[in-house]
Amino acid sequence: MDDRILKVEGDINLTEGRKKWMNSLPSETRSELDKDAKWFIHQALSTPCLDILEGCEGPYLVTSTGKKILDFHGNNVHQVGYGHPKVIEAVTEMLHKLPFSPRRYTNPPAIELARQLGSKIPGLNRVLFAPGGSEANSIALKLSRIATGRFKVVSMWGAFHGAGLDAISVGGEAPFRKNVGPLLPGVEHVPQPVMYRSLCENDPEQDMYVALIRQVFENEGDVGALIAETIRDTDVQIPAQEFWRKVRALCDEFDVTLILDEIPIAMGRTGKLFAFEHYGITPDIVTIGKGLGGGVFPMAAVLTSDKFNVVANHSVGHFTHEKSPVGSAASLAVLKVIEQEDLLNRAVKLGQIMQARLLEMKDRYEIIGDVRGIGLLWGLDLVTNRGTKARAVAEAERIMYHCLQNDLSFKVSQGNVITLSPPLIISEEELERALTILEGAFQKQM
Ligand SMILES: Cc1ncc(COP(=O)(O)O)c(C=O)c1O
Repeated sequence: MDDRILKVEGDINLTEGRKKWMNSLPSETRSELDKDAKWFIHQALSTPCLDILEGCEGPYLVTSTGKKILDFHGNNVHQVGYGHPKVIEAVTEMLHKLPFSPRRYTNPPAIELARQLGSKIPGLNRVLFAPGGSEANSIALKLSRIATGRFKVVSMWGAFHGAGLDAISVGGEAPFRKNVGPLLPGVEHVPQPVMYRSLCENDPEQDMYVALIRQVFENEGDVGALIAETIRDTDVQIPAQEFWRKVRALCDEFDVTLILDEIPIAMGRTGKLFAFEHYGITPDIVTIGKGLGGGVFPMAAVLTSDKFNVVANHSVGHFTHEKSPVGSAASLAVLKVIEQEDLLNRAVKLGQIMQARLLEMKDRYEIIGDVRGIGLLWGLDLVTNRGTKARAVAEAERIMYHCLQNDLSFKVSQGNVITLSPPLIISEEELERALTILEGAFQKQM
């Protein structure tokens, strides 16, 4: 298989390991999966799928054969868990009251959500909703182009910003970019600030990445925006404190719009509502999504300042479900649950438990080359040799299927990084159980 396919944001559904997994499923599941495969357009990272779901609740997925799987992936929509009663209640109520709001009208839940989101961070007071993260990033890029009059963008290799043509142009993952023809002009990719060590240490090496960005800004002279994930979600790359402060200063110096994509990690995953809060900086534009819709409704948003409120005679986000009352009700319920259940502090507290257990595992199992994380987002970098850091791709896949067999689901990113992102409402007991399943997989691997 093309090695570039293995180095992407998710585990691969076209491997021998996946074939073996499919063969281990009960025949009724396999026949449903065959139907799925018959009707859907096949794509890498989805069809053929893993199993058939019939329910989801709290931290669990429930399959058609009644297996209850602890979901440490959840496509990052499940910060408040699946089917949170407050989210379901708010959505159900709104479905009965105002299921849709045509775009020429507005409605109280949408206004209230914009007010609440726009009041969180000083200077990020202007809001636009979108039906997905890719579209939110598209809006952000267009806002920057119109406001600055410059179209060039700096982005990072390996980044994922969504599947739209503009998003894959600034993104850097081969399976999304190959064979689709010309992408957006004016995109300059720089390498990711890759960390092979833990939590937010200051790291002089990262000056190299900052210097590269400066070089592009200086050489081009007309860059309009820089777009990046504050913390890379999939393989859990957490730049050092200084990195974002320096990039913020660079963007100010060159009048470049700093767009931070926090679609998978905002809404508390890192222990703060927005990940950039860890760095003491404010981007010019932040995009959020996924968990914003409470795992029920596709909701994303762009937050920015009055400076970018300059598109009154353009249409930058002309979406049918632009101000969905149902989606807004879901998002308002999510914000309330985060506050009422103290989920930001909970992410920090449970994150410490996770960190301690994962570091113990690193001491015990040579295959774990690095443990990185923040809040309830953790990555285990698996290596065949700690010295050379050679990626343990086949082993990572075996560990993933072993865990799935034992009712724990997570994603493998870049071929060798086990990414763990449990819902923030998970109980300590469930978290411990999941980590025990994971450790069982490492024991078996030894
Ligand atoms: C960092 C990042 N940006 C953007 C997106 C795209 O979001 P959506 O799938 O809602 O378009 C994703 C989705 O995984 C993401 O992880």
